[in-house]
Amino acid sequence: MSETTETDGDTGDGDPQSAIDAQGDCRREELDARIFDHSAGDEQTGIPFVGAGPGDPRLLTVAGKELLEESDLVVHAGSLVNSELFEAYCDHAELVNSVGKDLEELIPLMRDAHEEGRNVVRLHSGDPAIYGAALEQMDALEHEGVPTYFVPGVTSAFAASATLRTQLTLNEVANHVAFTRPQGKTLSEAEDHISEFVGMGDVTTCIYLGTHAVRDTMDRLLEDGHDPETPVGVIYHASWPDEDVIVGSIGDIADKVEDAGYRASALVVIGDAVTGAGYERSYLYGDWANRGSSGSSAENTSEPEASDD
Ligand SMILES: C[S@@+](CC[C@H](N)C(=O)[O-])C[C@H]1O[C@@H](n2cnc3c(N)ncnc32)[C@H](O)[C@@H]1O
Repeated sequence: MSETTETDGDTGDGDPQSAIDAQGDCRREELDARIFDHSAGDEQTGIPFVGAGPGDPRLLTVAGKELLEESDLVVHAGSLVNSELFEAYCDHAELVNSVGKDLEELIPLMRDAHEEGRNVVRLHSGDPAIYGAALEQMDALEHEGVPTYFVPGVTSAFAASATLRTQLTLNEVANHVAFTRPQGKTLSEAEDHISEFVGMGDVTTCIYLGTHAVRDTMDRLLEDGHDPETPVGVIYHASWPDEDVIVGSIGDIADKVEDAGYRASALVVIGDAVTGAGYERSYLYGDWANRGSSGSSAENTSEPEASDD
């Protein structure tokens, strides 16, 4: 299920790890000039790494849709990308599932197609910048002379919050959001910070890649002394036709998820923002708004930046 592709060992010329290291060295020395020449959403030269959004084809960006419509080859993230997207926007393109393919296979596939003049799109689920392992593919391609760029997408945490009819940040309830994943093959126990985020009290913790580990995660939170009544929402296949929502607490969510039988493809949200209860009216539509009505914008005054909450 994970899109993470790890390589190790030196396999000589064209080795993706050497390419990744070399590209990292270049970045450390000097930022890429394209950063200052382009905005997110611009169509650029090369292979776009497009966020497919959470599932519903209508939650793909307009930029992503246009690129898919022009594509000849789409390399996609398998079952996490809703096939309705292909039917809706690119029924003539060749489709390649990246799951089970390593960089040594994927890079030449995309490079050769690009060099043959085909329009290649690399399609990641949600947003490619969140647990997408996109940069290593981009670095390996760039190293081989193939330009690449990002086209953002709606990450599944945002689809989950829309489903829950809540905000991930809520005045006085949730001042911060953590996008995280539980310990496992990729993350060691020491690198798992879920308990710390929950312990902060005013953080909405959004757990990716953790459906199979809900019981372990909740057991650890209970062992660490967190309130068993803390709200937890588990949103399976957010925005898909078979979307399912399970709401409970640290104390009972594991039983509920096991009863439903989900082991993958769900987003786990922990914190009071799950219910949306108990928040305070914001400054934005209160006294603060009246004080800021002189007509000058936050950009050219010393006013604090306007908040959306
Ligand atoms: C490899 S990560 C990719 C995340 C993706 N880049 C994003 O921005 O949503 C895969 C994990 O994302 C979450 N996920 C992806 N699509 C989802 C959806 N439609 N509903 C709920 N969770 C989803 C699940 O936790 C899944 O295990």
